[in-house]
Amino acid sequence: MTATVTTDRLTVTTDRLTRVPGLLYGGDWNPEQWPEQVWAEDVKLMAEAGVNLVTVGVFSWARLQPDADSWDFGWLDRLLDLCHRHGVAVDLATATASPPAWLVRAHPDLLPVTADGVRLEFGSRQHYCPSSPAYRGAAVRLTRALAERYRHHPALALWHIHNEYGDHVQECFCPDSAVDFRRWLRERHGGIEELNRSWGTAFWSQRYTSFEQIEPPRTAPGPVNPTQLLDWRRFCSDALLALHRAEKAVLDEVSPGVPVTTNFMSMLKALDYWEWSRHEDLVSDDAYPDPADPRAHVNAAMNYDLMRSLKGGRPWLLMEQAPSAVSWRPVNVPKRPGLYRLWSLQALARGADGVLHFQWRASVAGAEKFHSAMLPHRGTAARGWQETVRFGAELRRLGEIAGSRLRGRAAVLLDWDSWWALELDDHPSARMRWPELLRPWYAALHERGVTVDFVPPTAGLDGYPLVLAPNLYLLDTATADRLTAYVRDGGRLVCGPFSGIADRHDHIHPGGHPGPLRELLGIVVDEHWPIPDGETTAVRLDGTAPDGPRSDGAEPHAEPHGADLRAERWSEWIETEGAETLARYASGTLAGLPAVTRNRLGAGTAWYLSCHLGADTGRVLDLPLAEAGVGAELPDLPADVEATRRHAADGRQYLFLLNHGGVERRVPLDTPGTDLLTGAATGDAVTLAPLGAAVLRLPAAEERP
Ligand code: GLA
Repeated sequence: MTATVTTDRLTVTTDRLTRVPGLLYGGDWNPEQWPEQVWAEDVKLMAEAGVNLVTVGVFSWARLQPDADSWDFGWLDRLLDLCHRHGVAVDLATATASPPAWLVRAHPDLLPVTADGVRLEFGSRQHYCPSSPAYRGAAVRLTRALAERYRHHPALALWHIHNEYGDHVQECFCPDSAVDFRRWLRERHGGIEELNRSWGTAFWSQRYTSFEQIEPPRTAPGPVNPTQLLDWRRFCSDALLALHRAEKAVLDEVSPGVPVTTNFMSMLKALDYWEWSRHEDLVSDDAYPDPADPRAHVNAAMNYDLMRSLKGGRPWLLMEQAPSAVSWRPVNVPKRPGLYRLWSLQALARGADGVLHFQWRASVAGAEKFHSAMLPHRGTAARGWQETVRFGAELRRLGEIAGSRLRGRAAVLLDWDSWWALELDDHPSARMRWPELLRPWYAALHERGVTVDFVPPTAGLDGYPLVLAPNLYLLDTATADRLTAYVRDGGRLVCGPFSGIADRHDHIHPGGHPGPLRELLGIVVDEHWPIPDGETTAVRLDGTAPDGPRSDGAEPHAEPHGADLRAERWSEWIETEGAETLARYASGTLAGLPAVTRNRLGAGTAWYLSCHLGADTGRVLDLPLAEAGVGAELPDLPADVEATRRHAADGRQYLFLLNHGGVERRVPLDTPGTDLLTGAATGDAVTLAPLGAAVLRLPAAEERP
């Protein structure tokens, strides 16, 4: 009865999400919190707002299964029937994120235990040990019961496994976890001697003679073995993934053809989303940028680019965002008028095919009663409701963009293994944290209007003229060889500091940093030189001219040459071994030594930034960007305007222009188009009000005048 799952578009099956034309709009709906009379009003208001997809059942376990041997599906039957009658499709949750009290009391050992040995209590949510057989058995049973009952229900469009894996509980140190960890270690290492070598247990007399002697890395008197900690991070991501896969296997078996997703949490350290996304039919994400942060949209853009990249550029779904304020920050600032619309459009601008929310109707009880909702406590007179309805109408005008895709002009390497290893303790500096290293690089690209894709270290890089690696602390030789081949073949690689340090066991590559990157980068690091908090080191660009054309036809940037930049957090004493020096340290002990280098290898170049340049990062990145011919989506973009382009299969383009600033901006255009939001034809420029936006349909190249 269902056709093949093809997740190129959100219209993933011919008789499921295809019934939801255009873009998806809706949110988490928690009808179990309300008397059924309210549901009738809900579906009426959903029609008014243009809601076409709701997520139901996320926290319904206690209601669906009142005790071990009884089920109550009647209310959910009525709810799905109601949705179907009103043309609202359902993203049906497997309801496993909050085990009910009866299950917890029957199996108290399914509650998670902290590194200090504290067992966390019932009374919140996500209170389960990822390795608990009791929890897993009950979760799989519930999933099967739901799948068998609703697989043919005409309202069912999408399965939603669990909720936000890794939220609240990412690890558990109980005896069940210890057993599972040992199993995982046996599979990874084979024998105990292999584990001893990998963990370097000759250090501090940590040698094991049997796997039974190994425990999770509970709180210990001093620093815990770093490879044990790294394996623990890997195990914890895998343990949650095993749970997810157990539910996914049931859905694939019982309900084939209905796509399955679980809601990711943007760039989350705990879960290796490259691995996870292989098991998703569709990537979906929960995003909560802070309205009080004037640069929040930059971080949001970064997260959305990652979500789009996880399945190679396929459209993804914004599963949750707040219509206005959240309730879990110390101070929860609402979205000022216009911000909700702008940030919703931003997700679409970066490849989403739908915008959903937490949640549909504001709760009156529980920990999230102050969280905003599409339908606020005040009801339809509320400002929030007006914005919900207005944006729903706008989304309908944008329906034709569904399925179109962005094309990154450069790639950013992201490796969870390296992230985990980078942030282990007892390094030269605790200030080298992946998100903080990445952010200024991403912000520089965002400011310059350059769309980037994220790629895993195993990715083919051929299509990208430029690859950026803000940090590759952990790097195996196979990846280093791939990067070297990429550069030899004409690619351009820019590598950030403290890279090429350790192998996959977190053992130092011997013979001088950056280990397997040394020949590629043409430099050797003599010593790491972290910069104390609050201090900076001057860096002077020498003035080597970039020698490549820019894709946007503009002259190469001349400005950075001779400029003074400031390094913070980190610097390195490096010596060149064939690379040319583009910038030198200009203050402190390292004054006069190379800071930024470029090495020619084969047909390409490899750049090295030996320091963290924070807000000045872009002034160095301008050089490889120019050399690689990587320019903005649109030249001459005014400040605060974000521009992205989605490409449809028929050659049409959709140019998104978003003004994140507080003043009106005029954006010059190279091609006239039609603004889908207003229906108006554009001339040679578009004027954007503060927080204003335009979505321009541009004809295919061959149809342009
Ligand atoms: C997450 C959860 C939701 C809700 C929201 C509140 O996204 O998935 O259940 O708690 O946060 O912001």
